[in-house]
Amino acid sequence: LKVLFATSEITPWIKTGGLADVSGALPPALAAAGCDMRILVPAYPAIKGAFPRQLRRIPVPQLAPRLPACSIIETEPVAEGVYFWLIDAPGLFDRPGNPYNDSFGHDWADNVWRFGLLSRVAAWLAESASQTGWQPDILHCNDWHTALAPAYLRYLGGRTRSVLTVHNMAFHGLYPASCLEDLALPPHSFSFDGVEFHGKLSFLKAGLQAATRITTVSPTYAQEVQTKTFGCGLEGLLRYRAKELDGILNGIDLSQWNPASDPQIPNDYSRDSLERKAQNTVALKKRLGLVPGDAPLLGIVSRMTHQKGFSLILEVADQLIAAGCQFVILGSGEKRMERDFSELAHRHPRQAMVVIGYEEGLAHQIEAGADIFLMPSLFEPCGLNQMYSLRYGTPPVVRRTGGLADTVVDTTPETLADGTANGFVFDDPDPQALFATVMRALATKRDAATWTRVQQNGMALEMGWDQAAQHYLDVYRAALAA
Ligand code: ADP
Ligand code: GLC
Repeated sequence: LKVLFATSEITPWIKTGGLADVSGALPPALAAAGCDMRILVPAYPAIKGAFPRQLRRIPVPQLAPRLPACSIIETEPVAEGVYFWLIDAPGLFDRPGNPYNDSFGHDWADNVWRFGLLSRVAAWLAESASQTGWQPDILHCNDWHTALAPAYLRYLGGRTRSVLTVHNMAFHGLYPASCLEDLALPPHSFSFDGVEFHGKLSFLKAGLQAATRITTVSPTYAQEVQTKTFGCGLEGLLRYRAKELDGILNGIDLSQWNPASDPQIPNDYSRDSLERKAQNTVALKKRLGLVPGDAPLLGIVSRMTHQKGFSLILEVADQLIAAGCQFVILGSGEKRMERDFSELAHRHPRQAMVVIGYEEGLAHQIEAGADIFLMPSLFEPCGLNQMYSLRYGTPPVVRRTGGLADTVVDTTPETLADGTANGFVFDDPDPQALFATVMRALATKRDAATWTRVQQNGMALEMGWDQAAQHYLDVYRAALAA
């Protein structure tokens, strides 16, 4: 099966969140399962610089009034059967930093053309075998940045089947209707069953309408997005397409996230040598300037945004510190949240450390060194950090939503008995529910034998990408049969 995988970010070159992790790990897993993969991604400076040797360049003509002609750089294979196709469009992608916004956090003003081009080129490549020598069976798009591609196939007469994976319903890619013509979309596409959403052009809706099949990144989120609370205005459409919608749980990259061979943590450990984990806690507290000793260390690694439930944490953080906990928080995002957390650290300089920024190494050290990982998200399409923490024997405290509900099993007498207990789960998006659940986790921790079982259950889970790749193959086959 030949698959063109289109994405706007990819680990380790350009990453703002979990989409990059998925783009880095799923295509190689699909290749290992027998697919021939091309990954289409903008030639951002970081990624272009990493591949100085180019196999060839494919010229792409001007495909819409406001979209420039550009070219595709084919790189050497990044894994067996996986090549990059980098869109080289000098005015649009050769900027430093974040793919979506400038250093002040404002969206790049020309995003509609940047991701319009990414989508348009994806659709063109799916139909231009005569120029590329490679005909994909499936065009696999991810989130709004590439979601216009299935609409191009529909309205400009393409035949290649498409799959759209929704990693987050909260981002739509909404632009004025006046962009339509400049993007070479026909006027009749601007309708209720086309690309129109409340008078605007919606990239995400366009893809949800036109893609042959839709997936989301966990089974629970696939159900949730069909409801008003989680559907972000598109729940009706998703209910209408429910038969073509699947939830496939993300995997994690086991080679990157393995406490037994992680070069970024001071002390390797495994299920059978959990006592070695404590040395990572000691080292982390020392590095952060926290009071040494037994105070339970609560860890957070996250984008700082409403989605992640930080309002709940802020409400009870002082109370948790008064109850004897320490905090290590790594994240960046909304300025007000960054400030609120920084103030928490100022109030408790030896009990709470807040690092505003993005640090891969520290993220690994927190997964290894924290006693408990907090992820009380209000919604969570899948979530990777709770899976990393399970694998690192750092039981997560999570809210029961999306992928958190699908991966974390609350510790109860029953789940302890059947060997599935691996963390602590609460339902209400309420600060006191979070507080009570952390207290419940701490009570369990005082019983060392039980705690070890909870840790080991999480570490034993099969979380690689093989299973997900098989599910995507099923979805591809269903798309081809449609
Ligand atoms: P989302 O994609 O919604 O941000 P995920 O849990 O799926 O959430 O993925 C987040 C990814 O980004 C993880 O790989 C996590 O380790 C990483 N990450 C988030 N914030 C930071 C940060 N400040 N420093 C280092 N890594 C981070
Ligand atoms: C999104 C979601 C996150 C998911 C990630 C990868 O950013 O917020 O829950 O894990 O995509 O699919």
